Amino acid sequence: MSRYRIAVLAGDFIGPEVTAATLDVLNALASGQAWSFDFHEVPFGGHAIDEHGVPFPDVTKAEAHAADAVLLGSVGGPQDHAWNRLPREQRVESGLLALRAELGTYANLRPVKVFEGLEGLSPLKTEVARGTDMLIVRELTGGIYFGKPSDATAETGRSTMVYERHEVERIARTAFETARLRRGHVTNVDKANVLDVSQFWRDVVVGIRDTEFSDVTLEHLYVDNAAMQVVSQPTSFDVVVTGNLFGDILSDLAAVIPGSLGVLPSASVGGTTGLFEPVHGSAPDIAGQDAANPVGMMLSAAMMLRYGLNEVEAADRLEAAVTAAMGEDATRDLGGSRGTAAFTRAVIDHLAP
Ligand code: NAD
Ligand code: IPM
Ligand code: MN
Repeated sequence: MSRYRIAVLAGDFIGPEVTAATLDVLNALASGQAWSFDFHEVPFGGHAIDEHGVPFPDVTKAEAHAADAVLLGSVGGPQDHAWNRLPREQRVESGLLALRAELGTYANLRPVKVFEGLEGLSPLKTEVARGTDMLIVRELTGGIYFGKPSDATAETGRSTMVYERHEVERIARTAFETARLRRGHVTNVDKANVLDVSQFWRDVVVGIRDTEFSDVTLEHLYVDNAAMQVVSQPTSFDVVVTGNLFGDILSDLAAVIPGSLGVLPSASVGGTTGLFEPVHGSAPDIAGQDAANPVGMMLSAAMMLRYGLNEVEAADRLEAAVTAAMGEDATRDLGGSRGTAAFTRAVIDHLAP
């Protein structure tokens, strides 16, 4: 019997809530299978700062490397929290960037899908939302999040957006390879009309397409126009490839299409161990109220099964159970009436044979 060792980083505020819900669902999914999960919970984020003085302790680093996959809730505090007044390198968000860098997960796959029958949950017109199925491929370990110099004095603040050729080539390959498994179309999003780094990025993407992926179609959009088109014509997108900062912003915007930031999952791959985390943050405004939508986390777990553990059939079963539960009655952020616990029970009921 194979046992999958999963590093569980529950995080802060709603992080532990959606994590507990997801672990319950994963345990139900594993029952009767030829494999099982071995969950190892380790400190990360704001809790780790309070208990260990740092957001990404060594014990967590060691467990992330020992595990078959890392499952992360969400970390961070409200705007006025003391965690946000620490020096930059000691903050929660720096711990998250350090985790991604440590694992080398340069490709962040953020699918945005409107499931058949659930178009009504979108605030967009049903005919606009219907059929949306895009994959945002966000570069995750480079760009302005990591570029040097980056500092601030009393008079000047600066961050640097820098991309090396090999970083753009590998994320472009990820986008073209995934497009081949989908509808064969890639939209590159950049700001090449203004930024030298974006013109460089675009030229490298075009080079990879022309030399290795001439069967895939490629178009380009400037990020401002892309933001408008993502919500006005979402079905015109298949794979979107973009840098770290633009991908962060566009993916929260794209959450409007299915109806809530709480439903978007992600997989961060390309490194030593896969990292699976919802797109949303720790939502301090709704923590402790049984109001967190666990769907983004549950679908991240499905991505872990599919891409991290190669348990494709289990991933299909989990996604089907989540969409069936949403079809009956969703959580309140989507206009439904269920709390986190009731929604989780419904998913588990749908998993029963
Ligand atoms: P957020 O994503 O936490 O919340 C934005 C809005 O969406 C809030 O109104 C929230 O209630 C709602 N929301 C988010 N997830 C939801 C869910 N599952 N169910 C229902 N509603 C949900 O963004 P923020 O408030 O800007 O950030 C809060 C903290 O989270 C910050 O410290 C930020 O840095 C951090 N953050 C962490 C991650 C991560 O751990 N991967 C991702 C994004 C933000
Ligand atoms: C995300 C988050 C993170 C990011 C923050 C919390 C560092 O917004 O995963 O989208 O900007 O990458
Ligand atoms: Mn974000």
